Amino acid sequence: MKVLILGGGGREHAMAWSAMKSKHCEELFVAPGNAGTDRIAKNVPIAPTEFLQIKEFVEKENIKMIIVGPEAPLVAGIKDFFIDAGLNDVHIIGPSKGAAMLEGSKDLAKRFMQENDIPTAAHATFTANSVDEGKDFLNTLSSPYVLKADGLAGGKGVLIIDDIDEAKNQLDEMLLHQKFGKAADQVVIEEFLNGTEVSIFVLTDGDHYKILPTAKDYKRIGDDDKGLNTGGMGAISPNLLADEKFIEKVEDKIIRPTLNGLKKKQYDYKGFLFLGLMIVEDEPFVIEYNVRLGDPETQAILPRVQNDLLVMLQKTAQGKLNEIDLTIKKEFAATIVLASNGYPGSYEKGRRITGLDKAGKESIVLHAGTRSSAEKILTSGGRVLTVTHLSSQLKDAIRKSYGSAEHINFSGKYNRTDIGKDMISYMRKKEI
Ligand SMILES: Nc1ncnc2c1ncn2[C@@H]1O[C@H](COP(=O)(O)OP(=O)(O)O)[C@@H](O)[C@H]1O
Ligand SMILES: [Mg+2]
Repeated sequence: MKVLILGGGGREHAMAWSAMKSKHCEELFVAPGNAGTDRIAKNVPIAPTEFLQIKEFVEKENIKMIIVGPEAPLVAGIKDFFIDAGLNDVHIIGPSKGAAMLEGSKDLAKRFMQENDIPTAAHATFTANSVDEGKDFLNTLSSPYVLKADGLAGGKGVLIIDDIDEAKNQLDEMLLHQKFGKAADQVVIEEFLNGTEVSIFVLTDGDHYKILPTAKDYKRIGDDDKGLNTGGMGAISPNLLADEKFIEKVEDKIIRPTLNGLKKKQYDYKGFLFLGLMIVEDEPFVIEYNVRLGDPETQAILPRVQNDLLVMLQKTAQGKLNEIDLTIKKEFAATIVLASNGYPGSYEKGRRITGLDKAGKESIVLHAGTRSSAEKILTSGGRVLTVTHLSSQLKDAIRKSYGSAEHINFSGKYNRTDIGKDMISYMRKKEI
């Protein structure tokens, strides 16, 4: 089977790395890809939201499966586009546009959860015409205040504010002064949930589902979760906070009601579903849905899945996911992100990267913001590379991942130094 992966980050390199191990992978393309995907597959210079160009390429190359990495093409309706174009025999891994709105609109996601009795924070949604009602609603809540731009905002559209006057001021900024642009035409105001966050990843064909390995990601730029929010600076898998009992609760109260809710609406969902959860007194609440895998969690999760990725995805597309037995390696995975100094603010690009081969012999090195130039590999983004190591002991996975990352050099290389440290403390405390 010929396969096309859409996207160009570490998540997509992880998917490509995994797909290349499949005995069903005849030829693999990544659009647009990066220097890492270029080494193992063929990069195609097409943006993931250029549906017409993608369609032409898919027809020309006789591609039978498209794995969609990022949310933008899903929310823009790539699945519906292919069906409307009559290309029903091309398997698209990802939901239809209607279902993708679970990520594309936080307001719709909240309404969906309410309709289906899925536990989530209390909320109300406001527009430019109802700013005053929004401020009245803020008066009914207690600090901190959670304000969310309704639409896609690249992970930057959520504000958590202690002071009520500042919260009201930011509500004005979002609704009246276009902070976050069109994404904040509507603002969801939520009750603050005080708890521990955990993400659960699900693969579903609409009827059946498999729970993928759990993971914990590290979103802040600095050690001890200090500093600005980023796309993610590291991950470990499994996340021991999500034990078997907790996952059963999530299946019962969240996953099954979510899939039933999608079916009631006759939404087609054949792909990955990410549940961002808050654990409050042992009970799961949904913070948000994502309709795709996370980055860098994918780099920690996929190496632990022993099944043939393409078989799993083909069964997903055929509605036969129940025929698969998911086998997950017992080992721990630790993923470290190597970033450009200055990220998530401004940073330099075009720096030469060395030591990749040496690191790659010891650990799984996946590219994110890289590009090839002649024989060299250069930095081209904020998050440049991830290094993942698997080991039976979490502390060894972490130590070896950092050890391999040491071999890699580029000017301005930055990484957090505490990935997984909190989980080691948790294990000690719980005597795991
Ligand atoms: N109701 C809430 N209570 C407490 N924290 C929240 C709440 N909603 C969001 N957060 C925090 O804000 C982060 C971002 O919110 P989220 O809804 O995941 O938006 P996005 O990922 O699109 O930026 C969450 O990971 C969580 O840490
Ligand atoms: Mg989130």
